[in-house]
Amino acid sequence: MEENAGSTAIAFIGAGRLATGLALAMHAAGAPVQAVASRSPASARALAERIPGCIACSPKQAVENAGLVFLSVPDDAIAGVAGSLAWTPGQAVVHCSGATEISALADAAGAGAATGGFHPLQTFTDPVVALSNLPGCSVAIEAAEPLFSRLTALTEAIGCRPFALPPGARARYHATGSYAAQFVNALLLEASAVWESFGMDRAAAVRALLPLLKGTVAAIEHGGLVHGLAGPVSRGDAGTVRRQLEGIATLGADHLALFRELTRLTLPLAIERGTLTPSQVASLRALLDTRTQQP
Ligand SMILES: NC(=O)c1ccc[n+]([C@@H]2O[C@H](COP(=O)([O-])OP(=O)(O)OC[C@H]3O[C@@H](n4cnc5c(N)ncnc54)[C@H](OP(=O)(O)O)[C@@H]3O)[C@@H](O)[C@H]2O)c1
Repeated sequence: MEENAGSTAIAFIGAGRLATGLALAMHAAGAPVQAVASRSPASARALAERIPGCIACSPKQAVENAGLVFLSVPDDAIAGVAGSLAWTPGQAVVHCSGATEISALADAAGAGAATGGFHPLQTFTDPVVALSNLPGCSVAIEAAEPLFSRLTALTEAIGCRPFALPPGARARYHATGSYAAQFVNALLLEASAVWESFGMDRAAAVRALLPLLKGTVAAIEHGGLVHGLAGPVSRGDAGTVRRQLEGIATLGADHLALFRELTRLTLPLAIERGTLTPSQVASLRALLDTRTQQP
C-alpha cells in the first residue's frame, strides 16, 4: 500500500494535558510534530506556538497533513472524533487512552488507516512536571506492524520504555495503575484515620509517613517486591502482627478487615523470600484466617 505524502508528519488532535507533554517531548526528540488541532482553536494555538514549524489547524487539516495522528481527546470523545474525519489508506491514527479498546477507531480502520493505542503510564498535568516525569516511564503500545515499530521507536526517542499490550486487556491493564497511584492516596487516608484516633491530624500523618513511602519505593526499585519487603510479616513476627490487629480492631470492623486483608496479601511475599520457618508461617496464617476472627 502506498504511503501518502505526509507519512512522517505527526499531528495531535486534542491539545490538553497529555498532548502538551507528549508533543513537546516528541519535538525535543526530533520527531516531526507538524500540526495541532483541538476543540477550541485557542488550545491548539497555545500548544502549536511552543513547537517551531508546527501549525494550529482544524482536525480535518491535521488529518490531511499528517501520516501519524494522535487522538489525544477525552476517552469518551475518541470514537466520535475518529468517525467524523476522512482517513486514507497509508495513514495511522492512535488514541492515548489506557482503558479504551482500539475498536473505538473502527471508522478510521474501515477507511483503510492503521489504528492503534499509545498509552504512557504516567500522569500528565503541568507540562514541565510531565516532561520531567516522562523519562523511564512505560508506554503501552497496541498496533500491528509497521505502526508498532514506529510507535516503539518514538517511545524510545522520548526516553520511555515501550511494551506490547495484547488486544482485549486494556480495561484490566488500566485498572492496575490505581495500585501505584490513587490507591496509595487511599491507603494514606486510612493511615491518617488511625493517627486521628491518637490525636494527630492528617497533615502530621502524611508528613510522617511520606518518607517511609519513599523508602519503600526505593527498596522495591532496588530489591524487587520480595527483597524490597520489610516489616513484621517479612520477619515472621506473629506477636507484633497480633498486637497490630488488636490495635486496629479498636477502631472498628471495617478498619480491621482492611488491615487484615492487606497483611494477608503481604504473606506470600514473605514466604517467597524464603526466611520464614514453617511454624512462623502457620502462626501468621492462623492470625490472618478470617474464619477464626481472633485478632
Ligand atoms: N492526563 C493524563 O495523565 C493522561 C495519562 C495517560 C493517558 N491519558 C489519555 O490522554 C487522553 C487525553 O487526556 P488529557 O488528560 O490530556 O485530557 P484533557 O487535558 O482534558 O485534554 C483533552 C483535549 O481534547 C480536546 N477535545 C475535547 N473534545 C474534543 C473534540 N471533540 N475534538 C477535538 N478536541 C477535543 C480538549 O479541548 P479544548 O480544545 O477545549 O482544550 C482538550 O484540549 C485521554 O484519552 C486520556 O485517557 C491522559
